Amino acid sequence: MKMKKLQEKDLKYIWHPCSQMKDYEEFLPIVIERGMGVFLQDVNKKLYLDAVSSWWVNLFGHSNIRINDALYRQANSLEHTIFANFTHKPAIELCKRIVNITPDRLDKVFFGDNGSSAVEIALKLSFQYHKQIGKDKKYKFVKISDSYHGETIVALSVGDMDLYSKIYEPILLETVKVEGPDCYRCKFNKKRSTCNAECFKYMEEKISEIHEEVTAIIIELIVQCAAGMKIYSPNYLVKLRQICDKYDINLIADEIAVGFGRTGKMFACEHANISPDIMCLSKGLTAGYMPLSLVLMGNKIYDAFYDDYSTMKAFLHSHSYSGNALGCSVAIETLNIFEDEDILNKNKYKSEYLRSRVTSILKDIPQIGEYRQIGMIGAIELVKDKNTKEPFESELRVGYNIYKIALEKGVLLRCLGNILYFMPPYVISEKEIDFMVNVAKESIIEYFKEK
Ligand SMILES: Cc1ncc(COP(=O)(O)O)c(C=O)c1O
Repeated sequence: MKMKKLQEKDLKYIWHPCSQMKDYEEFLPIVIERGMGVFLQDVNKKLYLDAVSSWWVNLFGHSNIRINDALYRQANSLEHTIFANFTHKPAIELCKRIVNITPDRLDKVFFGDNGSSAVEIALKLSFQYHKQIGKDKKYKFVKISDSYHGETIVALSVGDMDLYSKIYEPILLETVKVEGPDCYRCKFNKKRSTCNAECFKYMEEKISEIHEEVTAIIIELIVQCAAGMKIYSPNYLVKLRQICDKYDINLIADEIAVGFGRTGKMFACEHANISPDIMCLSKGLTAGYMPLSLVLMGNKIYDAFYDDYSTMKAFLHSHSYSGNALGCSVAIETLNIFEDEDILNKNKYKSEYLRSRVTSILKDIPQIGEYRQIGMIGAIELVKDKNTKEPFESELRVGYNIYKIALEKGVLLRCLGNILYFMPPYVISEKEIDFMVNVAKESIIEYFKEK
């Protein structure tokens, strides 16, 4: 009853993200009252294991005591202050520590308040940098196929997912798209674990043609998450770094979804041992607590903006919540937890356990075309035909229907088209991994039995 009333009120006033609201007529929003570790609890006390870390943000469980305390302490001293001409200890400590743990070449930090704003900042910085060093011709942004960098107009422009961007085509920025890696359906018949990123040839061809006009190449590191957790070879990034160096192109690393340990390394660029020119961080930065993002860049870029005010070279970008003190404190506690609790090492074991559990169910489900995993990201791609790798038609909403079945069984297993994925908070236990994987298996089998 309590649930029903709240649902009615919700639908009277709220427009939910990434949703066709008509779907909510049959599938009402679940009203969550509490979070505890990997579980969310609704107002009827039903539990849901959050297998997707609430859109890839949560690291150490819901309502984590250490982070709750850090937030409370900070709120009692300073919640927020204007960040132009003012600063505070949490921002200073956070930026010092972030610069220390990210790859070299990254010396300075600029604040945004979500992933898309970080992407906007990175693109503006790159463009203005080239303009101010006299390379006026360099204004184009290059992206790869199936990329995703957020939902604002410019972030959509450097993305390549028609589902989100097609309708806005007339108002998007003109960008250059290059065919990127597609390892499950590799045109070169290679395996991602052993290939030499042969598909980089498309990038090489395009860049050698237009490099004089290119200011930046933006890329999601190692995993294209929104496209269906598409994992690609680090060799692609090694080659990308080389070509960017050769032609003075800024490599913008979007680590928004994969940073902070998701792929098994603190930052995914470590797999390729490369340093980007600009790096975007968000999501796990505050372990799922506060909207905050950071853009890191080297002194080379910073210095091109540093001059007398009258030269008008300053970067005059700002957000009201830049440098938010609550967000910074939570991010510091997140880094403390990584250090104190040896998270990356513990995750090695958990990710192997996840792999072994999912691998054991593969033979029971003929529709699983591929299971791919890196670190704490695992994805099941469902296909019509394993041999041809033919996908299910999107109108069937296969993943969405399985997601609904899994919810009934107590697991939040949100899909990406025909791909179901596991991206749980790092505090997940073996027992909880078993539960999550078993529910995924039962839900897939139940869905296809009904067909
Ligand atoms: C790789 C990547 N970049 C950017 C974004 C945008 O972040 P936000 O949703 O905070 O704007 C996302 C969000 O999922 C993402 O996965």
